Amino acid sequence: MKPSARPAQTDASTAGDDAAPAVELLGAAKTYGTGHAEVHALRGVDLTVLPGEMVVLLGPSGSGKTTLLNLVGGIEPPTTGRVVVGGREITDFDEKARTTYRRGTVGFVFQFFNLVPTLTALENVRLVAELTGRGDRERAMHALEDVGLADRADHFPAQLSGGEQQRVAIARAIAKDPPLLLCDEPTGALDLETGLGVLRTLQRLNRAGRTLLVVTHNAAIAAIAHRVVRMRSGEIVTVTTTDTPGDADEVTW
Ligand SMILES: Nc1ncnc2c1ncn2[C@@H]1O[C@H](COP(=O)(O)OP(=O)(O)OP(=O)(O)O)[C@@H](O)[C@H]1O
Ligand SMILES: [Mg+2]
Repeated sequence: MKPSARPAQTDASTAGDDAAPAVELLGAAKTYGTGHAEVHALRGVDLTVLPGEMVVLLGPSGSGKTTLLNLVGGIEPPTTGRVVVGGREITDFDEKARTTYRRGTVGFVFQFFNLVPTLTALENVRLVAELTGRGDRERAMHALEDVGLADRADHFPAQLSGGEQQRVAIARAIAKDPPLLLCDEPTGALDLETGLGVLRTLQRLNRAGRTLLVVTHNAAIAAIAHRVVRMRSGEIVTVTTTDTPGDADEVTW
C-alpha cells in the first residue's frame, strides 16, 4: 500500500502500527514568519525511516535539520505536508494530542544534556519517565544499566563527565521505552573520548531494535548509520544507504 493511501489516524493514544515505517515525511514543509521575515526552514521534504534503522541527518547550519526533528517529534506541526510516525498521522494533532504523543512515543536527546543539577542521575531519569507514569525506580535503573551507568545512579551531574552526563540524558530519554529516539547533536559538546562512549551507547540501543534519527556534524556517527541524509537550504540533497553500517568500536573520529 502506498503511504499516502494509509488511513489517517488522529488519536494520540493509539498504539500505532508495528509494520508501518517508523517515520514518514510526505512533502513536509515548515515556514517561519511572514512577508520579509519569512524563512523556509524546510521545503517539501520526503523521507521514510524504517523500524530499527539509524538515520543520520547532515547539513550546514540553518539547513533545516532541527526543524525536521521537531516535526517528527511533534514539537511543532508542518506548515504543509504530512508527518506520519509508526503509522499514526500526527500532522494535525492539536497541542494536547502532540503532548501525549511526545511523552509516550519519542525520546529526545539534545546537545546540552540539560540535567537537573540538584538531582542524582537516577532522579533525573525518573523525573521525565514520571510524566508518562513510568518513573518507577526499577525501570529507571534499567535505563541507566542500558547506558552503562548503573554504578553512578546516586551521583549528581557535577560528579559525572560530559559523556556520562549525556548517557544519563540518553537513559532519561529511553526510560519511558519510546520506539523512536531523536538526537540533536548528541556529541556536539563532547570531546573525542567521551563522544565515542555516547556513540557506542547509541549503536547498542539501535542494535536492540530502537529507531534512531540523529542530527550531527560528526562523521563518526554517519559511519555507523544505515542511512545518511544530507540537507541543504531546507531540502534533502542526497541519501546514502548501506546494509553494513560501521561498528562504533572501530570508528575513527
Ligand atoms: N522558531 C523559528 N523562527 C524563525 N526561524 C526559525 C525558527 N527555527 C528555525 N528557524 C530558521 O529555520 C532555518 C532552519 O533552522 P534549523 O534550526 O532547522 O537549522 P539546523 O540545520 O538545525 O542548523 P544548526 O546546525 O545550526 O543547528 C534557519 O534559517 C533558522 O534560522
Ligand atoms: Mg540544529
